[in-house]
Amino acid sequence: MLPHKKIESTLQAAVRAVLADADVSAILVRPCDPKFGDYQSNALMSLAKTRKLNPRQLATDVLTKLDVSAVCEKVEIAGAGFLNFRLKNTALTQTLEAAARGEHLFFDKAAQPKTVVIDFSSPNVAKPMHVGHIRSTGIGDALQRTLRLLGHRVISDNHIGDWGTQFGKLLLGWKQILNRADLERDAIAELERLYKVINAECDANPLRLEEAKSELVKLQAGDAENVAIWKEMIALSQKQFDTIYGRLGVKFDFALGESFYNPWLGEVVADLLTRGIARESEGAVGVFSDGTLPPKEDPFLVNRDGEWVADPALVRKSDGGFNYTTTDLATIDYRLKTWSPDEIIYVVDDRQSGHFKKFFLIFGRWKPDAAKTTKLVHVGFGKIMGDDGKPFKTRSGDTVKLGELLDEAEERAYKIVSEKSAELPEAQRKEIARVIGLGAVKYADLLPNRQSDYIFSWDKMLALQGNTAPYLVYAYARIKSIFRKQNSEFRIQNSELKLAAPEELTLAKHLLNFGLTLEAVAEELRPNYLCNYLFELAGKFTSFYENCPVLKAEDEATKNSRLALCDLTARVLKQGLETLGIETVEQM
Ligand code: ARG
Repeated sequence: MLPHKKIESTLQAAVRAVLADADVSAILVRPCDPKFGDYQSNALMSLAKTRKLNPRQLATDVLTKLDVSAVCEKVEIAGAGFLNFRLKNTALTQTLEAAARGEHLFFDKAAQPKTVVIDFSSPNVAKPMHVGHIRSTGIGDALQRTLRLLGHRVISDNHIGDWGTQFGKLLLGWKQILNRADLERDAIAELERLYKVINAECDANPLRLEEAKSELVKLQAGDAENVAIWKEMIALSQKQFDTIYGRLGVKFDFALGESFYNPWLGEVVADLLTRGIARESEGAVGVFSDGTLPPKEDPFLVNRDGEWVADPALVRKSDGGFNYTTTDLATIDYRLKTWSPDEIIYVVDDRQSGHFKKFFLIFGRWKPDAAKTTKLVHVGFGKIMGDDGKPFKTRSGDTVKLGELLDEAEERAYKIVSEKSAELPEAQRKEIARVIGLGAVKYADLLPNRQSDYIFSWDKMLALQGNTAPYLVYAYARIKSIFRKQNSEFRIQNSELKLAAPEELTLAKHLLNFGLTLEAVAEELRPNYLCNYLFELAGKFTSFYENCPVLKAEDEATKNSRLALCDLTARVLKQGLETLGIETVEQM
């Protein structure tokens, strides 16, 4: 068992020995400021608070029942009732030796694996994927990788927007103004053009709008010609999506688009009506406030000129069509029946937070039992900005297409790699540039707190110094070069570690925190924790490497011990980057 887990479970048992009925699941230990120790627990303070006990007294009582001497030095009580733990060197060394033998890589599989559905990426058909799609795609993929690594059962589902009123206009355009040659050259651009032209015509001419609507009605009624065209549009879009997902290395278990749920939308609305959750209003059907929340927190109310007025979630339009919310309700019903998830995670732009607040509340009213067992989380994120402080656009003011952005990333990285490593053959430089370029874009997107907007900067994300993917991939490759340089026989499996220098100890302890970091990412759904952990790891490795000679170590035993530290660092870097969806190269 990893030392922090051992401390945690021993501490939980000690708490139970003092307070037999305490819920110990919240008794956790976390890494702390090295001034105080290696790990700390603040859980006794909140426990004391809820029970109106003196926290220091509780800590003292717990200490008398706590024996962690196998892994820790003497435990200290600090401040209002913190417990500080300092690892014994023997425990640290043994843990690293076990990792060197391949028994673990500083993380454990979850004791209670959860079933988690992750809904992410979800682009819309007949539109190009743009720079904004990197956000949901990258964050969602990093989360699915983290959860899978920790042993959870993950079902990733791409909720593609393949249904909706836009198809009326697209169908009309396809039938009347389609240019086959352009469609073959760049299908998405041609579909985009069809939509733009017809949309403008509809705005100007109500008769055109009627024509588009009747195409939509025919599609909804299952008209063979319209269904065939619609399917072709989906297939063309899917091809574009697949190319991009292939480049990004993103995989989904399912891609059940919105249209998949069509057969159930009518039933959902009927059920909501029967249960009194939705009601008719001005010909449409909507869900309104049930008055249980204070107006300020109630998403079904908006304040207009000082007055709270209804802001319902529509589930059926006055023309009989269904809404985004209706589809999400049918979708969740299907997911519950199909996978019985403990959690469903929606990785979607923060601009939809109002939708998700309403939808989650409707779910609670519609399926109160399921709402108790299935947790719904909206993993929101902010916008990508240009350096002018406005949403990131091309020079001419268009949205940046994702495919073109990825091309540019690879081209820019190729220039940098060619300057830095001119001696490498071109094919290898191209491959390094692909890894670095795509990694840079992904990493820059994962690094900020996901809810904040960030400024897109090529120079910053491609820099070889600083908290970037190139820096981390380079750190990995540099470690690999140590192994290429050393010629004697080194077998990590039988390494004995001697940790003496402060930089060795600091690095070793940081390696140990890999698992805790992964758990924090999984718990709070924040991949940026892992980015920062890896950046710190690379920094701690650098000070180790600058201060502790490896290949020129004073004796063979020290050299092998340090090589083992190098190898473990490389493995954690590689695993960590892979968990963020970023590849590595052995040389650069
Ligand atoms: N296709 C939607 C959009 O582009 C995102 C869908 C997100 N997922 C969901 N279950 N609502 O806005």
